[in-house]
Amino acid sequence: MGKALIIGAGGVGNVVAHKCCQVPEVFEELCIASRTIEKCDAIKAKLEGGKTKVTTAKVDADNTQEVIDLINKFKPDIVINVALPYQDLTIMDACLATGVHYLDTANYEPPDTAKFEYKWQWEYRDKFEKAGITAVLGCGFDPGVTGVFSAYAQKHHFDEINYIDILDANAGDHGYPFATNFNPEINIREITARGRYFEDGKWVETEPLEVKRVYDFPQIGEKDIYLLYHEELESLSVNIKGVKRIRFWMTFSQNYLTHLRVLQNVGMTSIEPIEFEGQKIVPLQFLKAVLPDPASLGPRTKGKTNIGCIFQGYKDGKPKTYYIYNVCDHQECYREVGSQAISYTTGVPAMIGAMMVLTGKWQKPGVYNVEEFDPDPFMDALNKYGLPWQESFSPKLLD
Ligand SMILES: NC(=O)c1ccc[n+]([C@@H]2O[C@H](COP(=O)([O-])OP(=O)(O)OC[C@H]3O[C@@H](n4cnc5c(N)ncnc54)[C@H](OP(=O)(O)O)[C@@H]3O)[C@@H](O)[C@H]2O)c1
Repeated sequence: MGKALIIGAGGVGNVVAHKCCQVPEVFEELCIASRTIEKCDAIKAKLEGGKTKVTTAKVDADNTQEVIDLINKFKPDIVINVALPYQDLTIMDACLATGVHYLDTANYEPPDTAKFEYKWQWEYRDKFEKAGITAVLGCGFDPGVTGVFSAYAQKHHFDEINYIDILDANAGDHGYPFATNFNPEINIREITARGRYFEDGKWVETEPLEVKRVYDFPQIGEKDIYLLYHEELESLSVNIKGVKRIRFWMTFSQNYLTHLRVLQNVGMTSIEPIEFEGQKIVPLQFLKAVLPDPASLGPRTKGKTNIGCIFQGYKDGKPKTYYIYNVCDHQECYREVGSQAISYTTGVPAMIGAMMVLTGKWQKPGVYNVEEFDPDPFMDALNKYGLPWQESFSPKLLD
């Protein structure tokens, strides 16, 4: 049916490539491209023998012309961007120049400011509409499936959603004293930022990790959770009509937070360049270089993740609560595709989103967040392709 160009060959790129190859009737050809071609070749080597034809290429996606040249050579129907958020705009520009659909899992962030928002990508709406191509933004798990869950709750369970709590729990243990589950630079920038949530039409700011609760997660148990700002809050506050409050919570262990505090206190999480032995280095980028590569955590990580959303609102005049979540086992993911659950829960939705576009189910010219499409075919695909969801109609609520 179609050809996909995957840009980025990290933990997530590996999962996307494996999952696309499980659906050869949709993904007839793949090109895995990244800055380091050896990483693309290593993924390709694991995929030999399947029906999908796989090639690799070297590309610097910070350079729009290089991406345009690659697109013109490979002629994909869609570009799946699983490089870093810094490349979103250059890749979107290349898609516009060549008339190819676009999908990513994280919104644009300027490298020199730790601030992520949809403003930059939403500005491309008219251009994509005029070009007749679709851009799907934020199609990992969170953002991604959390938006699809919200659209599904809105469509099938509520007349009015008032409160949404998004809960992201990772009870995986990789055995290292400190490591991040995805790109350390992106991950640490997110966690060390001030907290923020949406309430009564306004944004409320908190100190970083200031608000803490304890939640008893199905299949995982009790965990400390902290309020963070997360990018889907921005789009859901616009796209879920009538919502009064949306918050995002993530689990962190005391051990993780202690390490993070020390790294922050000594300046290692700073993104301000410093002079070191005659050259400028960014401390956070140096820290990334000495921390374990997230892609290497796969074989070591044991335990499960549980990510989902609790909704409160009204149906047929009566108050209703609804919790929908996925539980994913790190080792099962590793056995299937050679990556831990964080990469898996991001890569599977990216493949499904690309499949939605290629099969025409999610094709409408313009730039859209996932909750703006019909959630039903995506929800079916989650059950089919490795991220089955579960529901509860009487969950414990967060105050
Ligand atoms: N929505 C979600 O649920 C969710 C969850 C986790 C992660 N994510 C997002 O998923 C993306 C990938 O995460 P990851 O864990 O796979 O990261 P990763 O392991 O660091 O991999 C990133 C890949 O992008 C490549 N890359 C970086 N800059 C590039 C450039 N200028 N040109 C071409 N390739 C470039 C890297 O190449 P090198 O190896 O040469 O550096 C690497 O192959 C990130 O944007 C992250 O924010 C989303």
